[in-house]
Amino acid sequence: MTANRLHPAVPPNERDRPLRLAVLISGSGSNLQALIDASQRGDAPFEVGLVISNRADALGLERAARAGIPTQTLSHRGFETRAGYDAALAELLSEAAPGLIALAGFMRILTPGFVEHWQGRMLNIHPSLLPSYRGLHTHQRVLAAGDPVHGATVHFVTAELDGGPAILQARVPVLADDDPDRLAARVLKQEHHIYPLATRWFAEGRLALSSDGRTQLDGKPLDSPVIITADTA
Ligand code: GRF
Repeated sequence: MTANRLHPAVPPNERDRPLRLAVLISGSGSNLQALIDASQRGDAPFEVGLVISNRADALGLERAARAGIPTQTLSHRGFETRAGYDAALAELLSEAAPGLIALAGFMRILTPGFVEHWQGRMLNIHPSLLPSYRGLHTHQRVLAAGDPVHGATVHFVTAELDGGPAILQARVPVLADDDPDRLAARVLKQEHHIYPLATRWFAEGRLALSSDGRTQLDGKPLDSPVIITADTA
């Protein structure tokens, strides 16, 4: 590491391995599956220790159960405020004490206090080349704009929605005959590659968020995310 100051959430070192992840989901959980699959490879420096869903019917819960991973459902119904929900979520997480939280299609906006607590130890994957197309319906919006390239971004989570420092992006060409579903499927395939890769970097202690809010990889600040360009397959 260089003289750059790191965020107080010090990256894991050898003794913390395998790094224990809590993955937060709301739906299909295909990114969760990619993380589980990667964690089950022999040399993986991380494991999925807990999956939390805000929806009881999330398919991702079945994926976790199939892999023998403990799950919790914390429905947002019944909570009057976001802060109330996030306090309950914080309690579940503090019991599990993960080294990293991976948001994987978790369809809730988190409160600034929650995000602050986990800053530097919480990642998200978003289906666009951030900072373009924050928010929902990214594939439709990219097609409507006629963009030639689309993709996905893994980033640190900050209080700004889809606005935290980017780490890794996969660029995916937009094809002439694309519709939102076809384009989404090709982007998702790349998500399944880049999310486990960025998680591995974090678990290996190569990736951190510095105190000045920049992504650091291998001790150097990243001016722009690492980019992987997918072929058209
Ligand atoms: C993915 O497109 C991810 O980028 C976004 O939500 C979707 C989740 O899909 N944040 P899955 O539940 O991982 O299949």
